[in-house]
Amino acid sequence: MTPEKRIAVLSQEIRAADAFYYQDDNPILSDAEYDALRQELVALETEHPHLIRKDSPTQSVGAKPSGKFGKIKHTVPMLSLDNAFSDEDVSDFTARVKRFLSLPEIAPLAFTAEPKIDGLSAALRYEKGQLVSGATRGDGQVGEDVTANLSTLSTVPKKLGGADWPEVLEIRGEVYIDHADFETMNAAQLAAGKSEYKNPRNAAAGSLRQIDPSITAQRPLKFFAYTWGEVSAPLSDTQMGAVLKMKEWGFSINPEMRRHDGPADMIAHYTEILNARAGLGYDIDGVVYKVDDLALQTRLGFVSRAPRWAIAHKFPAEKAITTIEAIDIQVGRTGSLTPVARLAPITVGGVVVSNATLHNADEIERLGVKTGDSVEIQRAGDVIPQVLRVVEPRDEKPFEFPTTCPVCDAPVSSDVDEKTGKQDVVRRCTNGLACSAQAVQALVHFVSRQVFDIDGLGERQVEAFFDKGLIKEPADIFTLRARNDEIKLESWEGFGETSAAKLFDAIDARRDIPFDRVLYGLGIRHVGRTNSRLIAQHFISWGKFRAAVPELQNPVSDAYMGLLGIDGMGQAALGALAGFFAVEGNVEIVDNLTAHLNIQDAEAPTSDSPVAGKTVVFTGKLERFSRDEAKARAQSLGAKVSGNVSKKTDYLVAGPGAGSKLKKAEAAGVKVLTEDEWLELIG
Ligand code: IVH
Repeated sequence: MTPEKRIAVLSQEIRAADAFYYQDDNPILSDAEYDALRQELVALETEHPHLIRKDSPTQSVGAKPSGKFGKIKHTVPMLSLDNAFSDEDVSDFTARVKRFLSLPEIAPLAFTAEPKIDGLSAALRYEKGQLVSGATRGDGQVGEDVTANLSTLSTVPKKLGGADWPEVLEIRGEVYIDHADFETMNAAQLAAGKSEYKNPRNAAAGSLRQIDPSITAQRPLKFFAYTWGEVSAPLSDTQMGAVLKMKEWGFSINPEMRRHDGPADMIAHYTEILNARAGLGYDIDGVVYKVDDLALQTRLGFVSRAPRWAIAHKFPAEKAITTIEAIDIQVGRTGSLTPVARLAPITVGGVVVSNATLHNADEIERLGVKTGDSVEIQRAGDVIPQVLRVVEPRDEKPFEFPTTCPVCDAPVSSDVDEKTGKQDVVRRCTNGLACSAQAVQALVHFVSRQVFDIDGLGERQVEAFFDKGLIKEPADIFTLRARNDEIKLESWEGFGETSAAKLFDAIDARRDIPFDRVLYGLGIRHVGRTNSRLIAQHFISWGKFRAAVPELQNPVSDAYMGLLGIDGMGQAALGALAGFFAVEGNVEIVDNLTAHLNIQDAEAPTSDSPVAGKTVVFTGKLERFSRDEAKARAQSLGAKVSGNVSKKTDYLVAGPGAGSKLKKAEAAGVKVLTEDEWLELIG
């Protein structure tokens, strides 16, 4: 598989996992499995930086809020953390930080270390010492307004204590449930004949996102403060100082937090926390290190989804040995056949595990797994674990990957990469929407949270409507109410007058819908959330997009070239988009759907930085910053940083020792700036 293809596959898997994790509080991958995918993606992107796409999961965090609460825009984005998995990763991190800051390798540099709490993050905004709002992280840009729920926590002060708090103060930290309270909660669930929560994190997420805050009030949620967002005045000069201030103001801070001078002490502290883990009384999944000096944190800044000044050193995953009872094949929305190992149930780290994904045929071959084998599995913190290796094979013939779709019996094929001629590892059912599994999954995607977000229409309901022939394509959803004289939904099992009426209302509420959601809802391969948004921002109105559809078949048309010119849009997406609309049936499905909708225009992106959209080249020696820091600053202001001078270059920033690039720029009439002039320009 080409790196480009592999990046696309990894991105898609990570995005799907993110959606389950962040929106449904229902992870489909184990942490270890998820981390492995991310690591592979980061490694590929580091090796091939030109293949990094704007919509890569490495460039964003989490998933959009679910819609059941009001929204709160984070004035300072809530980001994620990069991970370290080994001692070496930690010393690489400290070395990287020093390099970026142009500090000598042997210079002392202080870092804090503290447990990484396995809960969910929340932001609390105080104005003049009063709690005014509380939000979840959401997708990092916009979270859910859970003010009423968060105010019920005794560890969330409604009024700040102590003195000297800034007028505007946003405290961020982790909401969690401790082990003792979790046990009590589950005992109560069982006594009430309800199912137990899978783990404290899920219980905390479910408890915080209650519509009725009086229910949240009865749940044993706690809050640890560890960072901040918008503040009208600095909290301190150091991370440690800032966190100690939070304590004075009435927040709980983690008692295990300490300050260290370098990787050796940080790793010793990590080992100490790892050994103490079982006795802490709450779930943690690693140790977070942060540069202590806040001025240096500011200089280090962020790489899209995570700060350069912090890293999470993750704990190793938990392992166990069990037997494979069967290998089943699941058919996904795009026809992909995914093998799933059904396991003899086993408890790993307190959770009963009975399924593991086997990813694809190559993975089965690589592992050499067969039904009946005893295998080592690994999980960390959640549901679907990974098969690591065969411990004891059973004397059976190798697993044969099906050559026809297990659902519709159509032939199975895998894509061939045009450039390399190699076959993709993912095998797909070739029947498209004529395969009932694909058709159902496409509809499930359409109604899901990130897309049309229709409450009360989940996988089970979609399947039932599909099986009865009542919903065959998206447009059918919008005619359900009108057809209810025949359907009589209120008499179905599981529905009554109220829930039927509620479903119809939920559907009607989505007739007004943003452009990008409609496009994303079509489930076109490679046209995910980000690409849909890019396309919507390009055309602004659905009408203009629809008018351009015929032109998509012509790669030299204005419409096609225009789309290709969008920063972050790849050939694969464009090819898939054109391919989708080349099928007459698809155009019909889309027009049938949009006839029921009022599609809202997209907003064009804006930026007010003087260098936004400009192309900059740095050359010669920079005296104030490392090259990386200068580049990062420029990019954060929306500039493109290039290595070569061309006609497209807007500025050449030249330091002492500049040579051929300077000459070329002068010859081409490119504006040349000194480092100081550049700093003045960007303010
Ligand atoms: S600092 C700019 N400190 O881990 C990033 N995060 O994987 C600031 N988390 O989103 C985060 N314990 O929800 C930080 N002691 C800790 C943490 C912690 C748990 C969570 C947090 C974050 C996620 C990143």
